[in-house]
Amino acid sequence: MLLAYDSLTGNVRRLALELAGQLGAAVVDVRTQAPAHEYLLLTYTFGCGQAPDSTRNFLDQHSPLLRGVVASGSYHWGNNFARAADVIAARYGVPVVAKVNKGGTAADRVRVLTWLREHNRYGTLD
Ligand SMILES: Cc1cc2nc3c(=O)[nH]c(=O)nc-3n(C[C@H](O)[C@H](O)[C@H](O)COP(=O)(O)O)c2cc1C
Repeated sequence: MLLAYDSLTGNVRRLALELAGQLGAAVVDVRTQAPAHEYLLLTYTFGCGQAPDSTRNFLDQHSPLLRGVVASGSYHWGNNFARAADVIAARYGVPVVAKVNKGGTAADRVRVLTWLREHNRYGTLD
């Protein structure tokens, strides 16, 4: 399972690289790279509860390999907190693995790592 991430100010990028380091998984930057295998998408929420255009463009091309979504947001967006995860999950029929504030907490990372280990169906994380 790859970790495909989209990040504007660095929160999601830091989270993705931290998770990848712990798992030995490969990362894909959705702005510049394409996935070779199935992936967990990590993205952020923009506009008013939307996924960023860069994530939408990536999914337009690579949604068949999408297996789950993590979205970052900020608590002060209230009902729209990390809503990009809900939008993407509903559109593509994949689970919301986590919704995190900014770069996420240690508990968020455990949650995502647990999901990744349970869904590592090929026995490799690259
Ligand atoms: C213009 C703008 C709109 C945003 N809209 C939302 C939003 O609707 N909901 C939310 O939870 N966070 C929203 N955020 C917060 C970001 O999703 C949050 O800071 C996230 O951690 C950014 O990830 P990144 O650092 O990887 O780019 C918004 C941020 C900006 C700058």
